[in-house]
Amino acid sequence: MATNIKPKTIFTGDNLPIMRGINSESIDLIYLDPPFNSKANYAAPIGSVAAGAEFKDTWTLDDVDNAWLDLIETKYSALNRVIHAALTNSDKSYLIYMATRLLEMKRILKDTGSIYLHCDPTMSHYLKLIMDAVFGKANFRNEVIWRKYGGHKNTARRKFTTENDVILFYSVGKTYNFNPVYRPLSEQTIKSEYKHIDENGRRYSIPRGRRYRQGIVKRVYLDTHPGVAIGNLWHEKELTMQGRDDERTGYPTQKPLALLDRIIKVSSNEGDVVLDPFCGCATTCVAADRLQRNWIGIDISGKAAELVVERIKADQGLFQEIVARTDIPKRTDLGDIPRYNAPQNRTRLYGEQEGYCNGCGEHFQMRNLEVDHIIAETNGGTDHIGNLQLLCSHCNRVKGDRGQEYLISRLNKD
Ligand SMILES: C[S@@+](CC[C@H](N)C(=O)[O-])C[C@H]1O[C@@H](n2cnc3c(N)ncnc32)[C@H](O)[C@@H]1O
Repeated sequence: MATNIKPKTIFTGDNLPIMRGINSESIDLIYLDPPFNSKANYAAPIGSVAAGAEFKDTWTLDDVDNAWLDLIETKYSALNRVIHAALTNSDKSYLIYMATRLLEMKRILKDTGSIYLHCDPTMSHYLKLIMDAVFGKANFRNEVIWRKYGGHKNTARRKFTTENDVILFYSVGKTYNFNPVYRPLSEQTIKSEYKHIDENGRRYSIPRGRRYRQGIVKRVYLDTHPGVAIGNLWHEKELTMQGRDDERTGYPTQKPLALLDRIIKVSSNEGDVVLDPFCGCATTCVAADRLQRNWIGIDISGKAAELVVERIKADQGLFQEIVARTDIPKRTDLGDIPRYNAPQNRTRLYGEQEGYCNGCGEHFQMRNLEVDHIIAETNGGTDHIGNLQLLCSHCNRVKGDRGQEYLISRLNKD
């Protein structure tokens, strides 16, 4: 499906309604580095490029729009069970927040797409269950252990210092892009295994069992060896922020470009669309731009939009046409569907609801019922029939742009 978002677009706003406005199956790769539920609130130091950027990472049930929970309870039972496995309300609300967004990410990824969820051991064990429920256990590819500090950091007194983050890598289906990364053979391997040198000075080895009769010997040349395919332990110092002062924006939780460079190279090709829905100081956008990928970034903080322009200009030194938006995009993949209040929608919904208001449950004549968006248009809800219901005018007024659960809880109170 063609994307309805111009390449190199940065959105400022909550990523949920924005993703709801993105066409289905239009994204090749998603990297997300959401708040980790760390119980901390982050702010960039005053005076740094990122000053003014801050985000909250403490969670209570008040943060959860009940419409999200309603959606999960009614449509996604496995996901619902996983969420209810959380032991505290804070964890539960964080998981609901994440699950609703991950469902949208699954919808907008192509069936050949991949997703990397960056988290840390605070919630990685719960998030893996959520990812299994959303993307399917069979599509789990790796748990990447990323060493986040270049040197030794001794921050914990009565436990071991946590030196890693966790990146959960899933594909949408069985067929997906994977360009392996190799690192050169070690000096030691070269010396011990590639110890022969031919008349042209090329090093080679003679693998065991490869001496054939009549003295023919099989040679494996070092310069034809791709190197060692890297595994899931990403411990190289070059992948950390240490010694990367030229890159630092001061944005709290900034990730190194080299880390994103690796992920993007492995799981996408030139011209593919890469999305980062929690893009912070736009590291993914900058790395994707360098690699000639199309990118879309979203962040709730307006600082991200400023930084992406600054960073890309500084990086490439060229004028780049970057689109900065604050509106909610409109999907173009739903075909020509009628407007929400079209007569055929009313008639169909009246039949499905057997004439009852979906709020108070009172019976009404059709002319006394109004068509309501279950998820409001301002939150990215569409005119699709699955997002519509009939409410009496009283219930419709009470609900406004809020979720269905709000209406129900208000009616229960009255
Ligand atoms: C851990 S930081 C991302 C850092 C980023 N990877 C980088 O290298 O700069 C998380 C980001 O998510 C953003 N955020 C939090 N909730 C959001 C939401 N609902 N929609 C969009 N962005 C959100 C925060 O403003 C913050 O910038």
